[in-house]
Amino acid sequence: MKTASPFKFISPPNSLVTVCFDGKEYQLPECENLAAALLAAGVQSIRQTPASGAPRAPFCMMGACFECLVVIDGATRQSCTTEVREELVAEKTKLVGGLDDGGS
Ligand code: FES
Repeated sequence: MKTASPFKFISPPNSLVTVCFDGKEYQLPECENLAAALLAAGVQSIRQTPASGAPRAPFCMMGACFECLVVIDGATRQSCTTEVREELVAEKTKLVGGLDDGGS
């Protein structure tokens, strides 16, 4: 299975900051949009569908599709409209009433 990201930044980032996504630390370009930075870092799934738990990834990159939802500071946000900043902590959105929640 291919694991290298097909996404690259056009120019090298000026500065990298530490971001935690789903419990794993990444060095991401400061002030880039979070969705693009995670894709370029090799993250393949940003969230899961609430019904089946199927993996989803950013699609439109302009705030229209909501495929890039993550949880930041307890609030669900679009990662494509969120800037990368030092010590940002984001998580995949949790399943609500999905098949994987054990019915609780
Ligand atoms: S990628 Fe479509 S809303 Fe963020």
